[in-house]
Amino acid sequence: MKKKTCYVTTPIYYSSGEVHIGNSYSTIVCDVFARYNRLKGHDTFFLTGMDEHGQKVEEAAKKNNVTPQEFVNKMAEKTQAAWQMMKITNNDFICTSQERHIKVVQKIFEKLLANDDIYLGVYEGNYCVPCESFFPKSKLVDGNLCPDCHRPTTVVKEETYFLRLKKYEKQLLQFIKENPDFIQPESRRNEVISFIEQGLEDLSVSRTTFKWGVPVLSNPKHVVYVWIDALSNYLSALGYLTDDDSLYQNYWVNGDEVVHVVGKDILRFHAVYWPIMLMALGVPIKFKLYAHGWWLMREGKMSKSRANVVYPQDLIPEYGLDALRLFLVKEMPLGNDSIFTYERFFEKYNADLANDLGNLVSRTISMVNKYFGGTIRKTAKIYTEFDQQIQELAEKVIKQYINKFDNFRFQDGLNAVWELISRANKYIDETTPWILSKDETRKEELENVLYRLVEVLRLVAIMISPVMVDTCETIFNQLGISNELQQFDTLKFGLLNTTTVVSKAEVLFKRLEIEKELAKIEKAKEKEKETTPTDNFKPEITIEDFSKLDLRIGKVIECKKDPNSDKLLILQVEINGKVRQIVSSIADVYKAEELVGKNIVVLANLKPTKIRGHLSEGMLLAASNEEQLEVLETRKVTKGTVD
Ligand code: MSP
Repeated sequence: MKKKTCYVTTPIYYSSGEVHIGNSYSTIVCDVFARYNRLKGHDTFFLTGMDEHGQKVEEAAKKNNVTPQEFVNKMAEKTQAAWQMMKITNNDFICTSQERHIKVVQKIFEKLLANDDIYLGVYEGNYCVPCESFFPKSKLVDGNLCPDCHRPTTVVKEETYFLRLKKYEKQLLQFIKENPDFIQPESRRNEVISFIEQGLEDLSVSRTTFKWGVPVLSNPKHVVYVWIDALSNYLSALGYLTDDDSLYQNYWVNGDEVVHVVGKDILRFHAVYWPIMLMALGVPIKFKLYAHGWWLMREGKMSKSRANVVYPQDLIPEYGLDALRLFLVKEMPLGNDSIFTYERFFEKYNADLANDLGNLVSRTISMVNKYFGGTIRKTAKIYTEFDQQIQELAEKVIKQYINKFDNFRFQDGLNAVWELISRANKYIDETTPWILSKDETRKEELENVLYRLVEVLRLVAIMISPVMVDTCETIFNQLGISNELQQFDTLKFGLLNTTTVVSKAEVLFKRLEIEKELAKIEKAKEKEKETTPTDNFKPEITIEDFSKLDLRIGKVIECKKDPNSDKLLILQVEINGKVRQIVSSIADVYKAEELVGKNIVVLANLKPTKIRGHLSEGMLLAASNEEQLEVLETRKVTKGTVD
């Protein structure tokens, strides 16, 4: 019989950012879902990758003096290393600069063009480079700011291709209304519906002002808009429109379950543009969308400039991978934001892991050793109401767990498992094995208690295995559970017959002294502040350092581009009546003629040097922010007026 299939995807990550615990959440929950499906025996394909094209990357590469390809390759390597550290079990890793992807995007674009779902026009409006998004004037904040990130937008007027969104507006709305679980949770679905009901504008889907993208096959001066390029990864990775599209046939066309997981910030792209692209391509909309909230810090978003980013490598070496995975998955309800604090992380570590789970494992193993020499057998009798209750709860929890995990409600599923763990700890106190052990006639009753505890732990280990990928192994090993009894179809109370546990339980999770841990974190943060400049600022200097600079106003009287370099401009600058030659690598930002006649600021006491064979006697000053670099110009102030 053909196995049920499951195709699960993460958003593909921008090459501009690093993996921190916030954005790794998208990937971790997908990994949990993929592992859960594999546990159920489903034929599972889990895809993640990198979103590598766009103006932002082109500019970042330039800043770092590398090619865009070199830049994105490095980031892909770093991201993959992070996923390995988090034991992410993706089956493929797609990068949008890969040939296999580019070819498919080009075919998709041409197909849409041929169907007249894409047409050529002129775009006039504003563009936000950091968000890689177009906005009409009416949507801008304070006239010019991006409504999403509140950074300044740039005005663009260019020939562009448009994707017909308006044409599909009604069809999409109808699809969403007829498929109530297409977008989850419901609050996010409602947002999408109201967005569409406000009316859709056709979407500009190509750019001509930069090169780092997928060229439109029939008109290569255009590159495909990054979102059209990026969304296509979900199909290009399956070989859609290629000679071998067997994965596409298996996991998409004839597939049983397709799940796209996205953060709330990128819902619109997946809930509006993507289904419309599919409708236009004639590809069935097979996917469900799960939109999750954000991990925030007390101050708001995690950001480098606030020096509040938490990286997985801050936590994993010290507290273990499973503690991090469990915390992220169990503490965030689907759809809502959650605040990360170290206090909460440590509190939950102590409560869920050291107290509840860790304690249950060590108490059970030590009693099996103490009272039965390490081996127990199944005893089917019910001696007390507590025996009955724990068995019933185990059965109820299994049902809840499956229902919740099937529907991506991991927090609820894990809460149910933890209810069982707590109940099992309480069961020990209720049945008092230490008293039973004193009465030889109650030996079987005692064995029955311990059997139930081991059996509950076996079930718990199976249920947590998609999340706690190392701990489940340790529990199985410590309890001596055979491979067959670790399988999903053995999630039934009472299948274990006999087992021999290890003679000494290894402590799974040591209780943390929270104050001490917090102090450690503080210290590490301080150290980091000293060594890494926040916001990429260079290390501090003193006023004495600064006063060594001799800054002068100079007038640019001539400026030429170095014919042998893309970067260098050679300027003749008059300072105090003398002309000096200054070489500057700003040719990618300024044209030579733009600078002639300007009064600029020159560092006049910089030791002369030769740059690419040209003498340079000083340095012109320029300053940058995240978006741009500008040469500093001076303006004369006379009698209170500025001219
Ligand atoms: N490249 C686009 C996605 C294209 S998919 C066709 C993108 N990339 S991203 O790197 O900015 O974000 C990747 C994922 O990380 C998104 O789902 C985003 O919501 C998520 N997160 C980024 N910061 C986050 C938190 N602080 N918390 C939780 N998830 C967050 O968007």
